[in-house]
Amino acid sequence: PALLALTAVLAYLLGSVPFGIVVTRAMGLGDLRQIGSGNIGATNVLRTGNKLAAALTLILDAGKAGLAVLVARATLAEDAGQLAGFAAFLGHCYPVFLRFKGGKGVATFFGTILALSWPVGLAACAIWVVVAALARISSLAGLVAAALAPVAALALGRGDAVALLVLLGVLIFLRHAGNIRRLIAGTEPRIGKKPKP
Ligand code: G3P
Repeated sequence: PALLALTAVLAYLLGSVPFGIVVTRAMGLGDLRQIGSGNIGATNVLRTGNKLAAALTLILDAGKAGLAVLVARATLAEDAGQLAGFAAFLGHCYPVFLRFKGGKGVATFFGTILALSWPVGLAACAIWVVVAALARISSLAGLVAAALAPVAALALGRGDAVALLVLLGVLIFLRHAGNIRRLIAGTEPRIGKKPKP
């Protein structure tokens, strides 16, 4: 139990690193909190107009969760991997380094599932890509992928991951309350465009 608690704390701290802010600052792209939606994720980094910065943010935010899962699973057990993924996700959404005001969890969600089960992760990524290609709205793609990921896990024989995926999905929906309101109102911006105030 002590090792599990330590794993959760370390994964939370790793998840708390806001790579969107780190990358945009390092590349001199301004204060991400003052740009677009003000969110710290790759979608908002793209609104700076810098695709490399957005890609780096996506890879690093997904990577920190994936790394937490892989290290915990390799050193402890499968359950520890799930716990680490959950803790890293919580770190990203409620980071200690940003007074608990963090991101919306889509990239860390993908990193977690890819590391837990790459077929389920790839299925969720494919869902994101299809919805994003059709609708050109990042939040909608993330919400649909989050809602369908537990179904993909069941279909691919990973029933053991369903509870975690449902929990992460519920948190993703909660973190997207503003986006959902804009989607319903028809004012959610297309990928690369800034949201209207
Ligand atoms: O992953 C975050 C995305 O779903 C929404 O980001 O900046 O459009 O609120 P944003």
